[in-house]
Amino acid sequence: METKLFKIDEIEQAASLLGQGELIAFPTETVYGLGASALDESAVKQVYAVKGRPSDNPLIVHVSDFEMVKNYVSEFPAQTEALVKHFWPGPLTLIFKVKPQTFSKTVTGGLKTVAFRMPKNSKTIELIKKAGVPLVGPSANTSGKPSPTTAQHVYHDLNGKIAGILDDGATQIGVESTVLDLTVADGVPVILRPGAVTKEQLEQVIGKVKIDQHLISENEAPKAPGMKYKHYSPDVPVWIIEGGLDVFSKAIDWANKNNRRVGIFADDLIIAKTATKVEATFSFSQNSVEAATKALFAGLRTLDEKPIDVIFAQSFPENGLGIAYMNRLKKAANQKIIKNDSIFE
Ligand code: TXA
Ligand code: MG
Repeated sequence: METKLFKIDEIEQAASLLGQGELIAFPTETVYGLGASALDESAVKQVYAVKGRPSDNPLIVHVSDFEMVKNYVSEFPAQTEALVKHFWPGPLTLIFKVKPQTFSKTVTGGLKTVAFRMPKNSKTIELIKKAGVPLVGPSANTSGKPSPTTAQHVYHDLNGKIAGILDDGATQIGVESTVLDLTVADGVPVILRPGAVTKEQLEQVIGKVKIDQHLISENEAPKAPGMKYKHYSPDVPVWIIEGGLDVFSKAIDWANKNNRRVGIFADDLIIAKTATKVEATFSFSQNSVEAATKALFAGLRTLDEKPIDVIFAQSFPENGLGIAYMNRLKKAANQKIIKNDSIFE
């Protein structure tokens, strides 16, 4: 099968392929999703197959508006209305109890709950409307690889395996949506995956919110099945550099002495000061966590193709969007962090 790159105005054709049980990757504000009708069992099975995704990891169902959700959920927790009003469309996935006999086990991973999200991309909303059904939409990468933030990333991973990709350029945010579980017994919603909608933003709208313990302690089993898998990993090892230019310089000197070729993922200033001592660089320009988050997956993918032995990546403080950025980066780095007083080995 030849995978077709659809221009953003070719929605009609893409929607009709979805209706025929084909897979179409679509743009969102976070990352590209791998779309298929959530009501077409063989199409959903195909989504797992082309990604190489473990079957106990449930999918997010993408809707064009909140009305669509009502077909699949009978009881909504009190916080729902305010959350939908403030954050949809946007990077917030909500987990509800699913109405029995609606979605298959393939969609829900056999859970009694289901995740919904309304993406903030007008073309994708139009695509869902034209398809007339909710679409499952895991990130459109091979399982275990960094999520795709451009149509070219999707093409790289899935060319020949899916019918098409709706190309809308690079995504704005760069990491996947915040996943919020609203089905908890004590009524206090829990963040299962950090994203661009932060705990503070949620608390301003609905009051107390908890963060799943495993995001803080690595020893607890995660509640979002997907969080337990090693994600976002380039083949080249990634080390997080905490502490700015001094620590970068120290780490690069150590690597050069030990014949390890280095690629760095950092802001312009750090790159300007270190470029002559490394093999490859990927800059996210300004020193801002927004810019770093937007560039993260493209940076890891690009550096992974270079002839290097290690990627050194810049850290950010773990607050606001920094929580989501560091969550993805730590997974890519397998928790390896270099600090000012680190002994290298
Ligand atoms: O930004 C996003 O959310 C992107 C774009 C394409 O919309 N989609 C995405 O989907 O990241 P995916 O399938 O790669 O991640 C879904 C996450 C997984 O960690 C999964 O375990 C969790 O959501 N999840 C899905 N349904 C769940 C449920 N019923 N209970 C707990 N976790 C669930
Ligand atoms: Mg994913």
